[in-house]
Amino acid sequence: MQLEFKDKLFINGKWIETEKKIVVNNPATNQVIAYVAHAEANQVIQAIDAAETALIKWRKVLAKTKANLIMEWCHLMLKHQNEIARLITLECGKPLKEALAEVIYAASFVQWAAEQAKRIDGVIISGHLDDVENKVHYEPVGIVGAITPWNFPAAMVTRKIAPAIAAGCTIVLKPAELTPLTAYYLADLASKAGIMPGVINLVTGDAPQIGRILGEDARVRKITFTGSTKVGKTLFAGSANSLKRMSLELGGNAPFIVFEDANLEEALAGLIASKMRNCGQTCICPNRIYVHKQVYTKFAAMLKDELAKMKVGNGLDADVVVGPLINQAAKVKVKMHINDAMTKGAQLYFGGSDLAGNFMQPTILINVAPNSQVAYEETFGPLFALFQFESDEEVLSLANASEYGLAAYFYTQNYKRINKMRNDIEAGMIGINSVYLSTDVVPFGGVKSSGFGREGSQLGIYEFLNTKYSLYKY
Ligand code: SIN
Repeated sequence: MQLEFKDKLFINGKWIETEKKIVVNNPATNQVIAYVAHAEANQVIQAIDAAETALIKWRKVLAKTKANLIMEWCHLMLKHQNEIARLITLECGKPLKEALAEVIYAASFVQWAAEQAKRIDGVIISGHLDDVENKVHYEPVGIVGAITPWNFPAAMVTRKIAPAIAAGCTIVLKPAELTPLTAYYLADLASKAGIMPGVINLVTGDAPQIGRILGEDARVRKITFTGSTKVGKTLFAGSANSLKRMSLELGGNAPFIVFEDANLEEALAGLIASKMRNCGQTCICPNRIYVHKQVYTKFAAMLKDELAKMKVGNGLDADVVVGPLINQAAKVKVKMHINDAMTKGAQLYFGGSDLAGNFMQPTILINVAPNSQVAYEETFGPLFALFQFESDEEVLSLANASEYGLAAYFYTQNYKRINKMRNDIEAGMIGINSVYLSTDVVPFGGVKSSGFGREGSQLGIYEFLNTKYSLYKY
């Protein structure tokens, strides 16, 4: 399939050329696949200008009209799902089947937002004085600066843009420079769907510079970001002066607990499905796997058997289920976590071989010590670090001994334990006997250093709305 790349800035409905370019590589081959636009500072400001002008009209567009336009964008995404999936695989590396699943996931946020655009209703509250009426209604926050990561080049873009524009906001999007092609393609489809020029603007370039401009410009009223905790803190500080609304979906270090009474087959299937999604490169995948002493050896052996069946390779090849890591730096980090854990006493139980390029064999470490790097840092790769525990109190304290609090998982059949763990584990999202947390219908987000704000569900729309109260005496 020959793909036509969009490679220019998208400002006010026009494709704008730049002098400087960014190189986009295929992580499976390390070959260059495109040169895309590198914005100058004044072009980022032009994008904010365009969003400012478009906001005047867009916020007043009838909710039903907005809903229809956004729904048309969803239809076009589904119509072009194969092309989008191929772009995702080319620039991000995940296997084609997974990339297709991401397109469907991405489109679900657009569909949800289109449906909700018509349901941003206010309320009348009984008067607190004679002859008065209290009205509470919702207004768009204004211009939104959105910064999205490389691990979900489509879904993180739509999870931000779709609710923002459904709420009546306009947007300047900066997708990850490693994976901009999918975002450009989606912006093009939005324009083809008839969404007005200036509502969605897209810039790529010097990421810290763009983040700084979006943070400092007082016209931008909200920043929504998915990425590392370090960058999230910089954006937070950079936006403080203009007191912007913020949604920060940051790093994770999810505990995955297998209790002695767990259904081990289900726990195994859940662990592999979550951990191996995008080759371990998701914020919500298990990083610390705590297995009860009674089932530890059996579970490790079951895991080894399953991982041995997984084919690693170029995601465009039909039978490949594990693609490459995004780049060499990512591979170095995974290897560092393996070496560190082994220095502290862990044993290599499966994998560990160095494959060519950015590929890495899924790896199991057993008897990992609680002071290992993997216990407190996000690995972002196919490393299964198996810790052992003996009591509920012990594992609860280990699970919470992390600065992060995005996702957590546990498998057990004991309902008292379910209630206790559900209440006491510090995380924004908890999977109990299941790992499938990612969907448009629920609020996605974390606590502690994993950030704040929610994406998806009705709450996701309210992140882009200001509450207005008016008192009326008749
Ligand atoms: C992420 O890794 O940040 C997002 C994962 C998801 O939406 O499932």
